[in-house]
Amino acid sequence: MAKKLFIKTYGCQMNVYDSARMADVLAGEGYEATDSAADADLVLLNTCHIREKAAEKVYSELGRLRELRAEVQAAGRELTIGVGGCVAQAEGEEMVRRAPVVDFVFGPQTYHRLPHMLARAGRGEKTVETDLATEPKFEALGTVAAAGKVTAFLSVQEGCDKFCTFCVVPYTRGAEYSRPVAEVLAEARALVASGAREITLLGQNVNGYHGASPDGAGSWTLGRLIRDLAGIDGLARIRFTTSHPRDMDDDLIAAHRDVPQLMPYLHLPVQSGSDRILAAMNRRYTTRDFLSIVERLRAARPDIALTSDFIVGFPGETDDDFEATLALVRDVRFAAAFSFKYSPRPGTPAAAADGQIPEEVKAARLARLQDVINEQMRTFNESCVGRTLDVLFDKPGRRAGQAGGRSPYLQPVHVDCDDAGALIGKVVPVRITGTGQNSLSGTLAGARAEVPA
Ligand code: 5AD
Ligand code: SF4
Repeated sequence: MAKKLFIKTYGCQMNVYDSARMADVLAGEGYEATDSAADADLVLLNTCHIREKAAEKVYSELGRLRELRAEVQAAGRELTIGVGGCVAQAEGEEMVRRAPVVDFVFGPQTYHRLPHMLARAGRGEKTVETDLATEPKFEALGTVAAAGKVTAFLSVQEGCDKFCTFCVVPYTRGAEYSRPVAEVLAEARALVASGAREITLLGQNVNGYHGASPDGAGSWTLGRLIRDLAGIDGLARIRFTTSHPRDMDDDLIAAHRDVPQLMPYLHLPVQSGSDRILAAMNRRYTTRDFLSIVERLRAARPDIALTSDFIVGFPGETDDDFEATLALVRDVRFAAAFSFKYSPRPGTPAAAADGQIPEEVKAARLARLQDVINEQMRTFNESCVGRTLDVLFDKPGRRAGQAGGRSPYLQPVHVDCDDAGALIGKVVPVRITGTGQNSLSGTLAGARAEVPA
């Protein structure tokens, strides 16, 4: 009988991709996925360290797993437990000391070695693997197994050399690495052959992509890669995330004008609207630079939906700095945005900086910023009512007789239909009739079963 694998994934889409690849690697060892930890022979936590009390959350989850293991063993079975991802990278040896229930600890660049770690666990040996070199992992993984999903993630770039002073990523994911173009194209073709209609290219600094060109003579930018991917038959939609304003080059902006498969949507974290704070964050752009990018993007693709990330309460942030952030938000008009209270990350420069902001001030600023952002999101969603948008359907709706998909602007859209199954995997025009909390509803428009892109 197949052994059962349960993976709990925290954090970003990169981790979602990594978890899928872990499942691929372990399928080769006879494991199949289960969605219940209680049934599993192997439980993996794929952790995130970006904000808040990430490590504490993992340790309390491990406390629950210790109880689960005791129950499983009482029933005469075994349960192996591994912790991967960014908390694993940051904690390393400390984790096996503090949580003896853990059999192995593995950083984001080591999961191709899971079979080896499992074999050692079988002999009662603990493993801690926190090597940060990226290349061996991708070499060992090869191209993706047939995933069979309508929307797929594809990691093209990992790591970060930018060292924003608030951020832990350069320490947990390591240096910037871009996968070679040929490897990316092969994985994209395999995904499309297995049914993917949309691919989201992933990277911590995805627009800093500079993978080796197929002839090995130079490197390609993300814009060039996207133009090539657009040539894959059957690939209807291309997205990419997350970008850094500093790496937003003209060719990538032009791709939003030239490549119909590239969706009119861009997530571009700005973090703050104060130049003083941006400098303290080591972001290496000004609000003027950011606004100029926005202007050029809108010139290239007038309907582009822009989203962003914000941090409030960065050390030294004054009321005026915060007002400047609100002013930037009002100026740009975002389709949506994430905003966070600054959270000191151990070992990062800002964590040790003077001028840490009291929790109540952070909370009050966050609430004000989120009010403005939510208002903009409502306005954007309402502006879609009455329009006909192409929707890529990827799942049955929440209720029977419904199908769910995404608009070009990444909004969830659901429609009533007789046969949801027939819609899944297709791009179909939908007339938008209403907005919900975070989604749109509509009716199928026109007889066209499929639009080209
Ligand atoms: N505190 C708060 N937010 C953070 N982010 C990254 N590091 C921190 C931190 N220390 C946010 C940034 C980033 C997003 C992924 O998480 O806004 O863009
Ligand atoms: Fe973190 Fe800055 Fe790198 Fe983004 S660019 S991963 S925020 S250090």
